[in-house]
Amino acid sequence: MPGVEPKIMNQDEWNIDVADRLHRLPPYLFGQINKLKHEKRVAGVDIIDLGMGNPMDGAPEVVVDKLCEAARDPRNHRYSASAGVLNLRRDLAKLYERIYDVQLDPETEVIATIGSKEGFSHLCLAMLGPGDTAVVGDPYFPIHVYSVAIAGANVIKVDAGCDEAFLQRVQHVVENIYPKPKVLILNYPHNPTAMTVDDVSFFDKVVDLAKREGIYVIHDFAYWRTCFDDYKAPSFMQAKGAKDVGVEFVTFSKPYNMAGFRIGFCVGNKEIIRALAKIKGYYDYGIFQPIQIASILAMREGEQAIADQNDIYQARRDILVDGLRKLGWELDSPRGSMFLWAKVPEKHLQGQNTLEFALRLMEEAEVVVSPGLGFGENGEKHVRVALVENEQRIKQALRQMDRALNKGIKMPSAQKTPELADEGKLADDVLM
Ligand SMILES: Cc1ncc(COP(=O)(O)O)c(C=O)c1O
Repeated sequence: MPGVEPKIMNQDEWNIDVADRLHRLPPYLFGQINKLKHEKRVAGVDIIDLGMGNPMDGAPEVVVDKLCEAARDPRNHRYSASAGVLNLRRDLAKLYERIYDVQLDPETEVIATIGSKEGFSHLCLAMLGPGDTAVVGDPYFPIHVYSVAIAGANVIKVDAGCDEAFLQRVQHVVENIYPKPKVLILNYPHNPTAMTVDDVSFFDKVVDLAKREGIYVIHDFAYWRTCFDDYKAPSFMQAKGAKDVGVEFVTFSKPYNMAGFRIGFCVGNKEIIRALAKIKGYYDYGIFQPIQIASILAMREGEQAIADQNDIYQARRDILVDGLRKLGWELDSPRGSMFLWAKVPEKHLQGQNTLEFALRLMEEAEVVVSPGLGFGENGEKHVRVALVENEQRIKQALRQMDRALNKGIKMPSAQKTPELADEGKLADDVLM
């Protein structure tokens, strides 16, 4: 209107109304751990981080060399194929045949993903919506719950397990919940508990259950190649009829230390792969092509690197298991994943929950572990310890834990955490 000055809104006056799906996300329990870790590091404290499963040892040299070479070729600078180039998918199919004796059609039964986290989340969006339910074992890898929530669907938790009793619990909820759950989410070797299944007979029973009850199966096989003591984790795809009912995710993040490259795959049921391809076609243009090319090299020449990395994890595992047991902790020695799942002695908890305990451990011992509570109610009383620091630092962590927890000697910097100004961080990366 003439003569009336338009009111310029001050940013403080805006009330941003975000989508409901953001409100549906459960509170992110690792946020406090990440914040304190960041503050400590900025203050110059040498934190020994056994919290995150972020591989530290670096990708195989042949892979890095190929990546650099391919990155110099301008033809690789264009958008790539959202499903991954066919040669990459072909090599993944060959790898499945070589390792698991499983045949996959690279054109219809294999899709490349930007890591299994992206693939899993988009698959939830493709398969689940309001009114649908997914069954997840508790403790769980948080993304398995968050992705279902983002898709607007419900999660039913059952006590996690890797045996017949677990399948009976799943059967019970599938029979008794209306509408019937649509998807069963599995993950062996398991994050956070490191539990594993003995052989493919477990997955045969899963397929029977899925067919009997008409549910789909998504198997997150992130630790497919991270195994110790001659254990070889079975693939869900080895079960007879697995392709009729489900899919499996694998990643290059862990076996080839390529976590930052962001590459993984979903394999299995054609229709489910097609649904994932459809949604990904709308969201992305594919992984940077030099990464796809380098990944082919990883599959062709990376076997020794996997074996070497597993030896490294196994040696760290032995030091940690032995050390923690000597400190009076109860834990199993895992044969897969890159974690230990340890019960915190009651005397150390001092009535606190594991989040409070982990924050105290960081203050007093300068060691980070992941509180079990962050992985669901059933995770309580436990912490997850990642095998990502080298042997010297693991031994140092054990000494610092012993001093702080058993001898009451806190690290000198325990009192010195500064109050840091908010650095304008956009979001808590969901890094686990
Ligand atoms: C069980 C599980 N699934 C998926 C992921 C994510 O893997 P990616 O790097 O392929 O997204 C992780 C990473 O820690 C994991 O532990």
